[in-house]
Amino acid sequence: NEEREENLRSPICCIMGHVDTGKTKLLDCIRGTHVQEGEAGGITQQIGATYFPAENILERTKELKADAKLKVPGLLVIDTPGHESFTNLRSRGSNLCDIAILVVDIMHGLEPQTIESLNLLRRRNTEFIVALNKVDRLFGWKKCKNAPIRKAMKQQSVDVVNEFNRRVTEVITQFKEQGLNTELYYKNREMGETFSIVPTSAISGEGIPDLLLLLVKWAEKSMVEKLTYVDKVQCTVLEVKVIEGHGTTIDVVLVNGVLHEGDQIVVCGTQEPIVTSIRSLLTPQPLKEIRVKGTYMHHKEVKAAQCIKITAQGLEHAVAGTALHVIGPGEDVEEAKKTAMED
Ligand code: GTP
Ligand code: MG
Ligand code: NA
Repeated sequence: NEEREENLRSPICCIMGHVDTGKTKLLDCIRGTHVQEGEAGGITQQIGATYFPAENILERTKELKADAKLKVPGLLVIDTPGHESFTNLRSRGSNLCDIAILVVDIMHGLEPQTIESLNLLRRRNTEFIVALNKVDRLFGWKKCKNAPIRKAMKQQSVDVVNEFNRRVTEVITQFKEQGLNTELYYKNREMGETFSIVPTSAISGEGIPDLLLLLVKWAEKSMVEKLTYVDKVQCTVLEVKVIEGHGTTIDVVLVNGVLHEGDQIVVCGTQEPIVTSIRSLLTPQPLKEIRVKGTYMHHKEVKAAQCIKITAQGLEHAVAGTALHVIGPGEDVEEAKKTAMED
């Protein structure tokens, strides 16, 4: 019913996969940014987050004749590193997402961290969509900038189509070996049992409309309960960072509830719980990555789901990956401290 639909929060989507499969580049392609080019060695070493408003998603998917309306206000995407040494960050991302994109390089097929990511997602029964990326690297690929994938495929030579089919079949077999049924999304008649594959290019944008639309529609359709907004604050610290002019800040993902400037909060510290109050609530502009320095928007309050940079005193020893608690009126600080340290 209407009321319920209006009360959905943005789904949180984690993008995971083996190193250099194009996770950050895919997000750059959707955002129109160049985050990947600025990374040391082209390697992601932190968790990132970006908010995509529904208007942008609709704009990007209009060629697929999507409905003129989405039920969710937007999509919050968490970028994770694929390098083998960052299992903890992949785990942190997969622990708080509602849905995920598992990126596979079409030229490489399944790789060690693809399988590791897959297992992290399976552990929590998280739905995911496979982005079979780098289709533009198929020999002889004709670029069709930002086109839906089926439209782009129609422009390809027989050789490219054959090579594409061969590689897709191989990837499906590799997933099968992991005990998982997968199928190209437009052939998939049993979403939920069979995982969908969306071929994409992060360089020329083919398949991006399909990926976005499938993600949002699938979340809206199958996760109404999970995505129904609740007031109780649910919030996780993603990263602890020193920012010029702000001191030590924490980047958090607010999954549910509202945070206000001045709220008294407790976060887990390396030695002891940290009790402090929110000095400022900052968010990056929509379509901007929180881990990249930019101009922040200041807010009196922020409603979930969002990624937020919090400035406050005493955050130097905050522990990433733990929960942030808000001390409500009449709530016991000591009790909150105990809960905070249980993480
Ligand atoms: P990590 O975060 O370090 O695990 O890597 P990643 O998965 O985020 O991959 P990244 O975005 O850093 O891309 C790795 C390399 O692949 C870069 O040189 C990209 O330009 C290139 N790349 C990514 N996507 C595509 C694509 O669709 N086509 C082509 N041709 N190159 C791509
Ligand atoms: Mg990356
Ligand atoms: Na990379």
